[in-house]
Amino acid sequence: MTLTARPGAGPATGSTGDPVAPNYHPLPVTVADAEGAWVRDIDGRRYLDLLAGYSALNFGHRHPALVAAAHAQLDRVTLTSRAFGNDQLGPFCAELTALLGRDAVSSTTGRPTGTERPLTTVLPMNTGAEAVETGIKLARRWGYEVRGVPPGRARIVVAAGSFHGRTTTIVGFSTDPDARDGFGPFTPGFDVVPYGDAAALREAIGPDTVAVLLEPVQGEAGVVVPPAGYLPAVRAACDEAGILFVADEVQSGLGRTGALLATRAAGTEADVYLLGKALGGGIVPLSAVVADAAVLGVLGPGRHGSTFGGNPLACAVGRAVVALLADGGYTDRARTLGEVLHRGLATMVDRGAVAVRGTGLWAGIDVVPGARPDAGREVCEQMLRRGFLVKDTHGVTVRLSPPLVITSDELLAALDALGEVLAART
Ligand SMILES: Cc1ncc(COP(=O)(O)O)c(C=O)c1O
Repeated sequence: MTLTARPGAGPATGSTGDPVAPNYHPLPVTVADAEGAWVRDIDGRRYLDLLAGYSALNFGHRHPALVAAAHAQLDRVTLTSRAFGNDQLGPFCAELTALLGRDAVSSTTGRPTGTERPLTTVLPMNTGAEAVETGIKLARRWGYEVRGVPPGRARIVVAAGSFHGRTTTIVGFSTDPDARDGFGPFTPGFDVVPYGDAAALREAIGPDTVAVLLEPVQGEAGVVVPPAGYLPAVRAACDEAGILFVADEVQSGLGRTGALLATRAAGTEADVYLLGKALGGGIVPLSAVVADAAVLGVLGPGRHGSTFGGNPLACAVGRAVVALLADGGYTDRARTLGEVLHRGLATMVDRGAVAVRGTGLWAGIDVVPGARPDAGREVCEQMLRRGFLVKDTHGVTVRLSPPLVITSDELLAALDALGEVLAART
Protein backbone atom coordinates (compact mmCIF):
# COMPACT_ATOMS: atom_id res chain seq x y z
CA MET A 1 0.00 0.00 0.00
CA THR A 2 1.25 3.51 -0.69
CA LEU A 3 0.73 6.14 1.95
CA THR A 4 -1.35 9.05 0.79
CA ALA A 5 0.28 12.47 0.96
CA ARG A 6 -1.77 15.61 0.40
CA PRO A 7 -1.14 19.28 1.15
CA GLY A 8 -0.94 19.70 4.88
CA ALA A 9 -0.56 15.97 5.43
CA GLY A 10 2.98 15.28 4.34
CA PRO A 11 6.39 15.89 5.83
CA ALA A 12 7.03 19.37 7.12
CA THR A 13 8.97 20.98 4.30
CA GLY A 14 7.57 24.48 4.18
CA SER A 15 8.04 24.03 0.45
CA THR A 16 6.48 26.39 -2.02
CA GLY A 17 3.07 25.13 -3.00
CA ASP A 18 1.99 23.83 0.41
CA PRO A 19 -0.33 26.46 1.88
CA VAL A 20 -0.05 24.88 5.34
CA ALA A 21 2.72 26.26 7.57
CA PRO A 22 5.36 23.65 8.44
CA ASN A 23 5.07 23.83 12.26
CA TYR A 24 3.97 20.16 12.47
CA HIS A 25 5.39 16.96 11.00
CA PRO A 26 2.20 14.92 10.57
CA LEU A 27 2.13 11.31 9.50
CA PRO A 28 1.13 10.94 5.85
CA VAL A 29 -2.58 10.34 6.29
CA THR A 30 -5.40 12.73 5.40
CA VAL A 31 -8.49 12.13 7.49
CA ALA A 32 -11.86 12.72 5.88
CA ASP A 33 -14.29 11.45 8.52
CA ALA A 34 -14.35 9.63 11.83
CA GLU A 35 -16.57 7.89 14.32
CA GLY A 36 -15.80 6.48 17.75
CA ALA A 37 -12.29 5.04 17.79
CA TRP A 38 -12.05 4.94 13.98
CA VAL A 39 -11.07 7.44 11.30
CA ARG A 40 -11.22 7.11 7.52
CA ASP A 41 -8.89 8.78 5.07
CA ILE A 42 -9.74 10.47 1.78
CA ASP A 43 -9.20 7.18 -0.05
CA GLY A 44 -11.68 5.35 2.18
CA ARG A 45 -9.08 3.45 4.22
CA ARG A 46 -9.93 2.96 7.90
CA TYR A 47 -7.53 3.41 10.81
CA LEU A 48 -7.90 2.75 14.52
CA ASP A 49 -7.06 6.00 16.30
CA LEU A 50 -4.68 5.30 19.17
CA LEU A 51 -3.81 8.94 19.81
CA ALA A 52 -7.27 10.45 20.25
CA GLY A 53 -6.17 14.01 19.60
CA TYR A 54 -3.60 13.84 22.42
CA SER A 55 -6.52 13.01 24.77
CA ALA A 56 -8.89 15.65 23.42
CA LEU A 57 -10.97 12.78 22.04
CA ASN A 58 -11.30 10.75 25.24
CA PHE A 59 -14.90 9.91 24.27
CA GLY A 60 -13.98 9.10 20.70
CA HIS A 61 -14.85 10.97 17.55
CA ARG A 62 -18.31 12.50 17.37
CA HIS A 63 -19.76 10.91 20.48
CA PRO A 64 -23.54 11.08 19.84
CA ALA A 65 -24.34 12.82 23.14
CA LEU A 66 -21.69 15.45 22.54
CA VAL A 67 -22.66 16.02 18.92
CA ALA A 68 -26.32 16.34 19.97
CA ALA A 69 -25.43 18.90 22.64
CA ALA A 70 -23.43 20.91 20.09
CA HIS A 71 -26.20 20.76 17.47
CA ALA A 72 -28.83 21.84 19.97
CA GLN A 73 -26.72 24.77 21.09
CA LEU A 74 -25.84 25.78 17.51
CA ASP A 75 -29.53 26.29 16.97
CA ARG A 76 -29.84 28.60 19.98
CA VAL A 77 -26.84 30.87 20.61
CA THR A 78 -23.10 30.28 20.15
CA LEU A 79 -21.31 33.37 21.44
CA THR A 80 -22.22 36.20 23.73
CA SER A 81 -18.76 37.25 24.94
CA ARG A 82 -18.51 37.72 28.68
CA ALA A 83 -19.88 41.24 28.27
CA PHE A 84 -23.24 39.52 28.78
CA GLY A 85 -24.34 36.41 30.58
CA ASN A 86 -25.42 33.22 28.87
CA ASP A 87 -27.58 30.39 30.15
CA GLN A 88 -24.90 27.68 29.72
CA LEU A 89 -21.99 29.25 31.63
CA GLY A 90 -23.38 29.06 35.17
CA PRO A 91 -24.68 25.49 34.85
CA PHE A 92 -21.41 24.36 33.24
CA CYS A 93 -19.34 25.78 36.10
CA ALA A 94 -21.69 24.39 38.75
CA GLU A 95 -21.82 20.93 37.16
CA LEU A 96 -18.05 20.78 36.73
CA THR A 97 -17.38 21.70 40.36
CA ALA A 98 -20.04 19.20 41.48
CA LEU A 99 -18.35 16.48 39.42
CA LEU A 100 -14.92 17.23 40.86
CA GLY A 101 -16.28 17.58 44.36
CA ARG A 102 -18.05 14.22 44.24
CA ASP A 103 -14.85 12.48 43.31
CA ALA A 104 -12.81 13.96 46.15
CA VAL A 105 -11.92 10.50 47.41
CA SER A 106 -8.78 9.04 45.92
CA SER A 107 -9.67 6.20 43.60
CA THR A 108 -6.37 4.57 44.49
CA THR A 109 -6.20 4.89 48.25
CA GLY A 110 -9.95 5.16 48.89
CA ARG A 111 -9.19 7.95 51.37
CA PRO A 112 -10.69 11.42 51.13
CA THR A 113 -8.11 13.58 49.40
CA GLY A 114 -9.45 16.63 51.27
CA THR A 115 -8.11 20.11 50.93
CA GLU A 116 -8.53 23.28 52.85
CA ARG A 117 -9.49 24.90 49.58
CA PRO A 118 -12.59 23.24 48.11
CA LEU A 119 -13.11 23.42 44.35
CA THR A 120 -16.01 25.81 44.18
CA THR A 121 -15.26 28.06 41.23
CA VAL A 122 -14.43 27.79 37.53
CA LEU A 123 -12.76 30.23 35.16
CA PRO A 124 -13.38 28.97 31.60
CA MET A 125 -10.90 29.62 28.79
CA ASN A 126 -10.32 27.93 25.43
CA THR A 127 -6.99 26.17 24.96
CA GLY A 128 -4.83 24.30 27.43
CA ALA A 129 -2.06 26.88 27.12
CA GLU A 130 -4.54 29.59 28.07
CA ALA A 131 -5.53 27.63 31.16
CA VAL A 132 -1.86 27.39 32.13
CA GLU A 133 -1.31 31.12 31.48
CA THR A 134 -4.36 31.81 33.61
CA GLY A 135 -2.97 29.58 36.36
CA ILE A 136 0.32 31.50 36.27
CA LYS A 137 -1.39 34.89 36.42
CA LEU A 138 -3.67 33.64 39.17
CA ALA A 139 -0.78 32.33 41.27
CA ARG A 140 1.17 35.55 40.89
CA ARG A 141 -1.74 37.81 41.77
CA TRP A 142 -2.69 35.56 44.70
CA GLY A 143 0.94 35.65 45.84
CA TYR A 144 0.98 39.43 45.91
CA GLU A 145 -2.49 39.99 47.33
CA VAL A 146 -2.84 37.11 49.76
CA ARG A 147 0.67 35.94 50.52
CA GLY A 148 2.20 39.40 50.60
CA VAL A 149 5.09 38.74 48.22
CA PRO A 150 6.76 42.08 47.36
CA PRO A 151 5.62 43.46 43.97
CA GLY A 152 7.36 42.02 40.93
CA ARG A 153 9.13 39.22 42.83
CA ALA A 154 6.77 36.23 42.54
CA ARG A 155 8.36 32.92 41.53
CA ILE A 156 6.84 29.62 40.44
CA VAL A 157 8.55 26.22 40.70
CA VAL A 158 8.15 24.04 37.60
CA ALA A 159 9.59 20.71 36.48
CA ALA A 160 12.14 19.79 33.85
CA GLY A 161 10.61 17.83 30.97
CA SER A 162 7.24 19.49 31.40
CA PHE A 163 4.94 20.45 28.57
CA HIS A 164 2.40 23.13 29.37
CA GLY A 165 1.75 24.66 25.94
CA ARG A 166 3.31 26.99 23.41
CA THR A 167 2.97 30.60 24.56
CA THR A 168 6.13 32.64 25.01
CA THR A 169 5.87 32.57 28.81
CA ILE A 170 5.36 28.81 28.86
CA VAL A 171 8.11 27.88 26.38
CA GLY A 172 10.42 30.15 28.37
CA PHE A 173 10.58 27.57 31.17
CA SER A 174 10.52 24.53 28.87
CA THR A 175 13.64 22.34 28.89
CA ASP A 176 12.94 21.14 25.33
CA PRO A 177 15.24 23.07 22.95
CA ASP A 178 12.83 22.57 20.02
CA ALA A 179 10.04 24.23 21.98
CA ARG A 180 12.18 26.98 23.51
CA ASP A 181 15.12 27.99 21.36
CA GLY A 182 14.78 31.13 19.28
CA PHE A 183 11.73 32.52 21.05
CA GLY A 184 13.31 34.64 23.79
CA PRO A 185 13.47 36.97 25.60
CA PHE A 186 11.40 35.07 28.10
CA THR A 187 9.27 35.88 31.12
CA PRO A 188 11.34 35.62 34.31
CA GLY A 189 10.17 34.11 37.60
CA PHE A 190 10.35 30.34 37.08
CA ASP A 191 12.59 27.84 38.87
CA VAL A 192 13.02 24.52 37.08
CA VAL A 193 13.66 21.40 39.19
CA PRO A 194 14.02 17.72 38.20
CA TYR A 195 10.64 15.98 37.91
CA GLY A 196 9.93 13.37 40.56
CA ASP A 197 12.49 14.70 43.05
CA ALA A 198 10.55 16.06 46.04
CA ALA A 199 13.71 17.12 47.90
CA ALA A 200 14.86 19.27 44.98
CA LEU A 201 11.42 20.81 44.73
CA ARG A 202 11.34 21.60 48.44
CA GLU A 203 14.79 23.16 48.17
CA ALA A 204 13.68 25.42 45.30
CA ILE A 205 10.82 26.96 47.30
CA GLY A 206 11.89 30.34 48.64
CA PRO A 207 10.27 33.33 50.33
CA ASP A 208 9.00 34.70 46.99
CA THR A 209 7.61 31.40 45.70
CA VAL A 210 3.88 31.58 45.14
CA ALA A 211 3.16 28.22 43.54
CA VAL A 212 4.35 24.88 42.23
CA LEU A 213 3.08 24.09 38.73
CA LEU A 214 3.29 20.43 37.67
CA GLU A 215 1.79 17.81 35.39
CA PRO A 216 0.82 14.92 37.71
CA VAL A 217 1.92 12.66 34.85
CA GLN A 218 4.16 14.18 32.20
CA GLY A 219 2.42 13.49 28.89
CA GLU A 220 4.57 14.99 26.13
CA ALA A 221 7.71 13.88 27.93
CA GLY A 222 6.63 10.32 27.10
CA VAL A 223 3.98 9.54 29.72
CA VAL A 224 6.31 9.79 32.70
CA VAL A 225 4.63 8.73 35.96
CA PRO A 226 6.37 10.19 39.03
CA PRO A 227 7.48 7.93 41.89
CA ALA A 228 4.78 6.98 44.42
CA GLY A 229 4.71 9.55 47.18
CA TYR A 230 5.99 12.38 44.99
CA LEU A 231 2.71 14.27 44.56
CA PRO A 232 1.73 13.94 48.27
CA ALA A 233 5.23 15.26 49.10
CA VAL A 234 4.65 18.20 46.75
CA ARG A 235 1.36 18.84 48.56
CA ALA A 236 3.13 18.78 51.92
CA ALA A 237 5.85 21.14 50.68
CA CYS A 238 3.23 23.57 49.38
CA ASP A 239 1.34 23.41 52.69
CA GLU A 240 4.47 24.06 54.70
CA ALA A 241 5.38 27.05 52.55
CA GLY A 242 1.78 28.30 52.34
CA ILE A 243 1.81 28.33 48.54
CA LEU A 244 -0.47 26.99 45.80
CA PHE A 245 -0.14 23.57 44.20
CA VAL A 246 -1.29 24.03 40.61
CA ALA A 247 -1.87 20.75 38.75
CA ASP A 248 -1.87 20.85 34.97
CA GLU A 249 -4.37 18.08 34.20
CA VAL A 250 -4.99 19.30 30.66
CA GLN A 251 -3.92 15.93 29.28
CA SER A 252 -4.05 13.65 32.34
CA GLY A 253 -7.46 14.77 33.58
CA LEU A 254 -11.01 13.63 32.88
CA GLY A 255 -10.57 9.89 32.83
CA ARG A 256 -7.40 9.16 30.89
CA THR A 257 -5.49 7.65 33.83
CA GLY A 258 -8.41 5.62 35.14
CA ALA A 259 -9.28 8.42 37.56
CA LEU A 260 -11.03 11.71 37.10
CA LEU A 261 -7.86 13.50 38.17
CA ALA A 262 -4.38 11.95 38.17
CA THR A 263 -3.41 14.02 41.20
CA ARG A 264 -6.18 12.38 43.19
CA ALA A 265 -5.24 8.94 41.94
CA ALA A 266 -1.88 9.60 43.59
CA GLY A 267 -3.73 10.18 46.86
CA THR A 268 -3.54 13.91 47.11
CA GLU A 269 -5.19 17.13 46.02
CA ALA A 270 -4.06 20.30 44.27
CA ASP A 271 -5.35 23.79 45.04
CA VAL A 272 -5.83 24.71 41.40
CA TYR A 273 -6.67 22.31 38.57
CA LEU A 274 -6.07 23.19 34.94
CA LEU A 275 -8.32 21.22 32.59
CA GLY A 276 -8.60 21.26 28.80
CA LYS A 277 -8.55 18.92 25.83
CA ALA A 278 -11.26 16.31 26.65
CA LEU A 279 -13.36 18.99 28.35
CA GLY A 280 -14.35 20.20 24.87
CA GLY A 281 -15.34 16.70 23.80
CA GLY A 282 -13.12 16.90 20.71
CA ILE A 283 -15.60 19.36 19.27
CA VAL A 284 -14.66 22.79 20.61
CA PRO A 285 -11.65 24.17 22.45
CA LEU A 286 -12.64 24.43 26.10
CA SER A 287 -10.33 24.73 29.09
CA ALA A 288 -10.94 25.62 32.69
CA VAL A 289 -9.16 26.74 35.82
CA VAL A 290 -10.89 25.22 38.84
CA ALA A 291 -10.14 26.40 42.37
CA ASP A 292 -11.57 27.82 45.56
CA ALA A 293 -13.54 31.09 45.28
CA ALA A 294 -11.06 32.82 47.58
CA VAL A 295 -8.21 31.98 45.18
CA LEU A 296 -9.99 32.72 41.89
CA GLY A 297 -11.46 35.80 43.52
CA VAL A 298 -8.19 37.67 43.01
CA LEU A 299 -8.95 37.78 39.27
CA GLY A 300 -11.66 40.39 39.52
CA PRO A 301 -13.26 42.23 36.57
CA GLY A 302 -10.76 43.52 34.04
CA ARG A 303 -7.88 41.41 35.30
CA HIS A 304 -8.25 38.48 32.94
CA GLY A 305 -10.51 37.30 30.14
CA SER A 306 -11.05 35.92 26.69
CA THR A 307 -13.63 36.73 24.01
CA PHE A 308 -14.51 33.07 23.48
CA GLY A 309 -13.89 31.83 27.04
CA GLY A 310 -17.15 30.56 28.53
CA ASN A 311 -19.05 30.81 25.26
CA PRO A 312 -22.42 29.02 25.29
CA LEU A 313 -21.49 26.51 22.57
CA ALA A 314 -18.38 25.35 24.42
CA CYS A 315 -20.19 25.34 27.77
CA ALA A 316 -23.03 23.24 26.34
CA VAL A 317 -20.53 20.68 25.07
CA GLY A 318 -18.64 20.88 28.39
CA ARG A 319 -21.87 20.13 30.26
CA ALA A 320 -22.39 17.05 28.09
CA VAL A 321 -18.80 15.96 28.81
CA VAL A 322 -19.38 16.36 32.54
CA ALA A 323 -22.58 14.32 32.22
CA LEU A 324 -20.66 11.52 30.44
CA LEU A 325 -18.12 11.41 33.27
CA ALA A 326 -20.66 11.54 36.07
CA ASP A 327 -21.25 7.82 36.62
CA GLY A 328 -17.54 6.94 36.53
CA GLY A 329 -18.03 4.46 33.67
CA TYR A 330 -15.40 6.00 31.40
CA THR A 331 -12.79 6.25 34.12
CA ASP A 332 -13.46 2.62 35.10
CA ARG A 333 -13.06 1.68 31.47
CA ALA A 334 -9.72 3.49 31.25
CA ARG A 335 -8.57 1.62 34.34
CA THR A 336 -9.59 -1.87 33.21
CA LEU A 337 -8.51 -1.39 29.58
CA GLY A 338 -5.34 0.18 30.92
CA GLU A 339 -4.53 -3.11 32.59
CA VAL A 340 -4.92 -4.87 29.23
CA LEU A 341 -2.71 -2.24 27.60
CA HIS A 342 0.09 -2.42 30.16
CA ARG A 343 0.02 -6.22 30.33
CA GLY A 344 0.46 -6.30 26.56
CA LEU A 345 3.19 -3.67 26.51
CA ALA A 346 5.17 -5.41 29.27
CA THR A 347 5.73 -8.36 26.90
CA MET A 348 7.44 -6.02 24.41
CA VAL A 349 10.27 -4.97 26.71
CA ASP A 350 13.49 -6.33 25.20
CA ARG A 351 11.48 -7.30 22.13
CA GLY A 352 11.87 -4.01 20.29
CA ALA A 353 11.02 -1.81 23.27
CA VAL A 354 13.68 -0.53 25.63
CA ALA A 355 11.17 0.64 28.23
CA VAL A 356 7.43 1.07 28.64
CA ARG A 357 5.68 3.44 31.04
CA GLY A 358 2.27 4.77 31.76
CA THR A 359 -0.95 4.58 33.68
CA GLY A 360 -4.55 3.93 32.69
CA LEU A 361 -5.15 4.05 28.98
CA TRP A 362 -1.96 6.02 28.39
CA ALA A 363 1.53 4.77 27.60
CA GLY A 364 4.97 5.79 26.41
CA ILE A 365 7.18 3.21 24.73
CA ASP A 366 10.89 3.84 24.14
CA VAL A 367 11.70 1.81 21.06
CA VAL A 368 15.00 0.18 20.16
CA PRO A 369 16.84 2.81 18.12
CA GLY A 370 17.54 1.70 14.58
CA ALA A 371 19.38 3.25 11.68
CA ARG A 372 17.12 6.30 11.74
CA PRO A 373 17.48 8.93 14.50
CA ASP A 374 13.70 9.20 14.61
CA ALA A 375 13.08 5.56 15.49
CA GLY A 376 9.72 6.41 17.08
CA ARG A 377 8.53 7.97 13.86
CA GLU A 378 9.59 4.88 11.94
CA VAL A 379 7.42 2.72 14.21
CA CYS A 380 4.49 5.12 13.76
CA GLU A 381 4.83 4.92 9.98
CA GLN A 382 4.84 1.11 10.15
CA MET A 383 1.77 1.17 12.38
CA LEU A 384 0.08 3.53 9.93
CA ARG A 385 0.64 1.06 7.10
CA ARG A 386 -1.12 -1.54 9.24
CA GLY A 387 -4.07 0.76 9.87
CA PHE A 388 -3.25 2.18 13.32
CA LEU A 389 -2.66 5.84 14.19
CA VAL A 390 0.02 6.40 16.82
CA LYS A 391 2.44 9.28 17.31
CA ASP A 392 6.06 9.62 18.32
CA THR A 393 7.51 12.08 20.79
CA HIS A 394 11.15 13.02 21.42
CA GLY A 395 12.59 10.84 18.66
CA VAL A 396 12.52 7.35 20.15
CA THR A 397 9.28 7.33 22.11
CA VAL A 398 5.90 6.19 20.81
CA ARG A 399 2.89 7.44 22.71
CA LEU A 400 -0.46 5.69 23.01
CA SER A 401 -3.59 7.43 24.28
CA PRO A 402 -6.50 5.57 22.69
CA PRO A 403 -10.01 6.92 23.10
CA LEU A 404 -11.73 5.51 26.18
CA VAL A 405 -14.44 4.08 23.91
CA ILE A 406 -12.01 1.63 22.32
CA THR A 407 -13.01 -2.01 22.79
CA SER A 408 -10.83 -4.63 24.35
CA ASP A 409 -10.63 -6.52 21.01
CA GLU A 410 -9.56 -3.39 19.17
CA LEU A 411 -6.92 -2.72 21.79
CA LEU A 412 -5.64 -6.28 21.57
CA ALA A 413 -5.43 -6.01 17.77
CA ALA A 414 -3.40 -2.81 18.15
CA LEU A 415 -1.09 -4.51 20.66
CA ASP A 416 -0.57 -7.44 18.29
CA ALA A 417 0.40 -5.08 15.49
CA LEU A 418 2.70 -3.07 17.72
CA GLY A 419 4.30 -6.22 19.06
CA GLU A 420 5.09 -7.38 15.51
CA VAL A 421 6.43 -3.98 14.44
CA LEU A 422 8.66 -3.76 17.51
CA ALA A 423 9.83 -7.38 17.33
CA ALA A 424 11.10 -6.70 13.81
CA ARG A 425 13.53 -4.16 15.33
CA THR A 426 15.45 -6.70 17.38
C1 LIG B 1 -0.21 19.01 30.09
C2 LIG B 1 -0.54 19.96 29.00
N1 LIG B 1 -0.77 21.24 29.31
C3 LIG B 1 -1.09 22.15 28.37
C4 LIG B 1 -1.17 21.78 27.03
C5 LIG B 1 -1.51 22.80 26.00
O1 LIG B 1 -2.77 22.60 25.49
P1 LIG B 1 -3.24 23.32 24.13
O2 LIG B 1 -2.50 22.62 23.02
O3 LIG B 1 -4.71 23.11 24.07
O4 LIG B 1 -2.84 24.75 24.25
C6 LIG B 1 -0.93 20.45 26.68
C7 LIG B 1 -1.00 20.03 25.26
O5 LIG B 1 -0.57 18.98 24.85
C8 LIG B 1 -0.60 19.52 27.69
O6 LIG B 1 -0.35 18.24 27.39
